[in-house]
Amino acid sequence: MKKDQARIGFKSNLGAIAALAGSAVGLGNIWKFPYIAGTNGGGAFLLVYIFFILLIGFPVMLAEFTLGRRSQQNAFGTFRFLAPGTKWFLFGALSIIAATLILSFYGTVSGWTLEYVWLSLTNSFEGTNAQEVNAIYTDFISHPYKALLWHIGFMAITAGIIMGGVQKGIERYSKIMMPLLFIIIIALCINSMSLPGSTQGLKFLFFPEFSKLTANGILAALGQAFFSLSLGMGTLLTYASYISKRDNLMNISLKVITTDTLVAVLAGIAILPAVFSFGIDPQAGPGLVFITLPQVFQQLPLGELWAVSFFILLTFAGLTSAISMLEVPVAYLVEEKNMKRTTATGLLATVITIIGGFNTLSFGPLRNVQILGMNIFDACDYLCSNILLPIGGILICVFAGWYLDKAIILHEMSNEGSLKIRFFKVYILILKYIAPACILLIFLNIFGVIK
Ligand code: PFF
Repeated sequence: MKKDQARIGFKSNLGAIAALAGSAVGLGNIWKFPYIAGTNGGGAFLLVYIFFILLIGFPVMLAEFTLGRRSQQNAFGTFRFLAPGTKWFLFGALSIIAATLILSFYGTVSGWTLEYVWLSLTNSFEGTNAQEVNAIYTDFISHPYKALLWHIGFMAITAGIIMGGVQKGIERYSKIMMPLLFIIIIALCINSMSLPGSTQGLKFLFFPEFSKLTANGILAALGQAFFSLSLGMGTLLTYASYISKRDNLMNISLKVITTDTLVAVLAGIAILPAVFSFGIDPQAGPGLVFITLPQVFQQLPLGELWAVSFFILLTFAGLTSAISMLEVPVAYLVEEKNMKRTTATGLLATVITIIGGFNTLSFGPLRNVQILGMNIFDACDYLCSNILLPIGGILICVFAGWYLDKAIILHEMSNEGSLKIRFFKVYILILKYIAPACILLIFLNIFGVIK
């Protein structure tokens, strides 16, 4: 975009919420949340998770919103604009790298979801037993090129939406996909709860077993809150730069947080009762979705329909998150390097698809390539989720809580004084001390400094 061109933002408040919630709601909510909640004390984990979402997730999200909307620029430009003549722009650069890298492995799993839509459409699970469904999964992820083709396909769709721009791409498709996602997940919940023995699954998810909640479980809740809300890597900051100056940031953050948490809980209700009802191990992790659910679906009346709906839901969830990640580097190239949106998107999607190709193939032909004892996919996930993300979170808190003039924050949050902001001092206190201290704690735990 040329500097003298008007910057296009979200057209409506609803569109902004759909896009932001679309970024937050993703694979993290649908496959990860139900299973980690269940294994870490169910309702007890849920309580801790909600506590972190409110105490840390909410203030950090609001800080990202405030910075992005204030600057009306990409992640790099935001820090250069708000902290001129300092090295803070490097943080913007770090966010761009983090978003790029996360997309490279997120695109791998999202590509798998497309294969599963296809397998469900072609009724490939009919008549298969547990072993065969397992073999379908392992053969697929280790295949020399099948997963790669789906990865390329998924990245092409992501790029296509981003090329459409903020209103005609991101906002339009999020507004279609998010309500559909809700409808599918609620239908799945109703179905799941009507199965015999479903109460056991609900108990696994909601009954608070404080004895099962360990220190690691508490830290897992904090990590999950960060990943699930898409915090700490410039994504929300970039999207927030498209929010209208009339919109109420506090209100939007609360809506995004509520939607994200609601979808995580609904995903638990949709998946766990079915898993229990069919006597499947709820701790199967990533395989829970890809290995166990096809077995569950084929035993249901209209099983293919449920399977197709579920995997489409998962693809939508992945897609609305993936576009938010791709937008971070695209906005940078368009605004800082004056590149055309289509060129920037094409270029970045190609680079990310190539990096992601290594991630995708790390379950097959490249399985022997090890980095610090991990395959490429796990190493990339580890670097992003455990290192770049917590660093990003702390830096956001330090920047907004310590560096930036509080008057600027208040001015932006209150829409130039027209909204009344309660508890501003408490908010700053959390940003300054509580949130960074908690994040530091996860970080130290990950590196084994504290247990
Ligand atoms: N919040 C997404 C999920 O729960 O799947 C993941 C995500 C999206 C992480 C966007 C980071 C990001 F920038």
